[in-house]
Amino acid sequence: MATRPFPSLLRLRSSLLPSTPLLALLSLSSLSCRTTKRRLASLHFVPSPPRTVRSLATVTAPPVVVAEDDKYGRKQVISVTPQLYDYILSNVREPPILRELREETATMPGSQMQVSPDQAQLLAMLVQILGAQRCIEVGIYTGYSSLAIALVLPESGRLVACERDVKCLEIAKKYYERAGVSHKVDIKHGLAVESLRSLIQNGESCSFDFAFVDAEKRMYSEYFELLLQLVRIGGLIVIDNVLWHGKVADPQVNDSKTISLRNFNRKILEDKRISTSMVPIGDGMTICQKRADI
Ligand SMILES: C[S@@+](CC[C@H](N)C(=O)[O-])C[C@H]1O[C@@H](n2cnc3c(N)ncnc32)[C@H](O)[C@@H]1O
Repeated sequence: MATRPFPSLLRLRSSLLPSTPLLALLSLSSLSCRTTKRRLASLHFVPSPPRTVRSLATVTAPPVVVAEDDKYGRKQVISVTPQLYDYILSNVREPPILRELREETATMPGSQMQVSPDQAQLLAMLVQILGAQRCIEVGIYTGYSSLAIALVLPESGRLVACERDVKCLEIAKKYYERAGVSHKVDIKHGLAVESLRSLIQNGESCSFDFAFVDAEKRMYSEYFELLLQLVRIGGLIVIDNVLWHGKVADPQVNDSKTISLRNFNRKILEDKRISTSMVPIGDGMTICQKRADI
């Protein structure tokens, strides 16, 4: 019989596209092989159990999307069906502590907000590729993505975790403690913009390697400008929900969050201070790297 262990996660995310190849990101590396191996050895992965993904779509999606414009050479791009997303999830190495947090969160209102296991794995990998020591996350919720990052940070690493909801933070703290990473996480309870401004005022500009943005969508531009000051040259700013359940591409949808995200995506495309790549994973993540020549 079909099982559906991730109902909340998949309700909004199952019809979305998968990641594009990420090999080019390896060139970002300032990775130390020895420290990375040590950190990997401290994580215990278990293979994900088989599962079945439910789609919101009433019609089975085709396996590929074909570019209609001849200039793209009839390029075929993979389209994620529920079956294929099931397969992707079965290839994620999710540490047991993250799985427990995801399952506890699945019972809570807003559980669809947490990043998917494949996204969390990508975030953790980017942190490792960078050899990051200092990270920021904007929008913690119950802590799934922040825990994925904290788990791969070195013992001396620090994650500044910005969240306004104290109840969510209680759950996040419980899991940081259980995972033995509390000493790496510096929680900033309050409005994220205020927390980021105070980091700048404290003289921490250009001192962070990695930032992940997953809070109020209409504030993305403000978060981005502050984070661009806080992140060092070569550091990454990763932004979630840039495809906004596909609404950014639908001219019929013009609510304030969709318009904000559309404007934000346009701003990022035109911003010469960064290199950028929009990755169709989860609800869409854009990876930006701060350039030297700004
Ligand atoms: C999409 S959820 C974050 C999910 C999280 N990254 C995860 O994977 O579990 C967004 C979070 O941002 C928080 N948030 C929204 N606006 C905020 C603000 N202005 N300042 C701080 N936190 C905010 C919300 O309370 C919510 O917990």
